This record gives sequence, structure tokens and C-alpha cells, in this order.
Amino acid sequence: MRKPLVAGNWKMNGSRESVSALVDGLKAGLATEDGLAVDVAVFPSAIFVEQVGNVLASTNISWGLQNICTEEEGAYTGETSVAMAKDFACKLVLVGHSERRALYGETDADVVAKVQRAGLAGLIPVLCVGESLEERESGRTMDVVAQQVQAVLKGASPESLAQLVIAYEPVWAIGTGLTATPEQAQEVHAAIRELLAEHDADMAARTRILYGGSVKGANAAEIFAGADVDGGLVGGASLDVQDFLTICGAAG
Ligand code: G3H
Repeated sequence: MRKPLVAGNWKMNGSRESVSALVDGLKAGLATEDGLAVDVAVFPSAIFVEQVGNVLASTNISWGLQNICTEEEGAYTGETSVAMAKDFACKLVLVGHSERRALYGETDADVVAKVQRAGLAGLIPVLCVGESLEERESGRTMDVVAQQVQAVLKGASPESLAQLVIAYEPVWAIGTGLTATPEQAQEVHAAIRELLAEHDADMAARTRILYGGSVKGANAAEIFAGADVDGGLVGGASLDVQDFLTICGAAG
């Protein structure tokens, strides 16, 4: 009942020229009159959102922002609001990516406020959670992930969580070439779904839980085979049209 979602997080990469080639390639590669078997989305740098939207507007591919402001509008230099995101037809927003948590000091409280703001505005919040290598090696994976998920379940309103997507991204697997084994991914995904079920059974059944961390065409199918793995959040490999198309195919 859950439609898989494959999303490309382009992070702070690209130029007008490379973004143009990327979206043209995705548009051609995913062209269909019947609708796609998987939902596909891209998260460009905010400065490219208009360019991306202009090309993808006539397709089944969605786009969104990599971050969102907790405030509505005003004197928040460098930030982007949900109203701006909607003005440019963004459908989704990443919240709490590990790079934002680690490099920009984003706390669970910030993450809750962003999920709340985005969700109530009708954007799909893609909540990113995951443990560091040290946390995994000391056996604290589920404690860390559970705390990140519970913060949002307890802090955000049910209305804001109606379309929530969760991305499990072990920090040690991001951009490293190391990938969680299919068993490791499924184990954490199942535990996250259990947490959701304790909160709300319907939510547990409908919420898509994506895996992220060095997903590529060559390993996507085995990772996506997990019963609780509903697609992927792809970084590096999403910058390569062919590899990203292969990943989309593996989820469908
Ligand atoms: O948001 C995407 C993740 O950070 C994964 O990045 O596929 O380059 O490891 P990666």
C-alpha cells in the first residue's frame, strides 16, 4: 500500500549547465504516459529550484528544498520560508539531515519546529535520522534513532505528520561508500515502524521509510528488498542520471 519514493539530494553541487543536463536526462529517462511505479523527487540547492521546476513541471517528478526556516517570514538572513517553497511549487522538504545536525547545530527542537511548519503548510517533511559510527559501535543505534523519531512524534502535531516521510541514514554510510547491509537497514526500519505503531497504527502503515547512505545502482535492489524499506534518499549517485534512473527502477 506504500508507494516507494526515490529522492535525490543534490546537496551543494551543480551549476546551471550541469543542473540543466541532469533534469533533461531525468525527464527523458522517466517519461511515461501511465504514471510512474515509484514517486521520484529531487532536492536541488535552493538557487536552482526555479530552473528545476521549469523543466520538471510537466513531468511526474517532484522537487523540494534541502532545508526550511522555522519562522514564517521577516528578518532571517539566509533562510527560505515554506511560503517561498510553495510559491516555487516545491512538494517536499528535507528536515534534520545529518549534515545540518552536525555542521549547523540543528537540534531535535529545531527539527520538530521545521516538521511542524512544513507539514502544516502542506509540504511533505522528509525527516532524516541516523546514528554515527561511534554510536553504532557502542550499541546505541536504536536509542539514537528512537530519540530522533520520538522527538518529532511527541513534539509535532498529528496534522503536520499526515504526509511524513522518514529517511534512515546511518551517518557512517553517507558519502563514504560504506552501505548498511540489507539486514542492518531492515532491522532499523522495522524498529522505526514499531515506534510509529506505538504512536498511531495508521501512521505506521502509511509512513514511507527510506534508506540513505551510499545507495547506488549496484546495491539499490538488495537494500530496497527489505519489507520496511520504501525507497531511498540518494546523495552522490543522484548526480549521475543513469545511476539514479537505475535506482528508481530498483524501487519500482
Ligand atoms: O541525503 C542523502 C544522503 O546523505 C546520502 O548521501 O548517497 O552520497 O551517501 P550519499
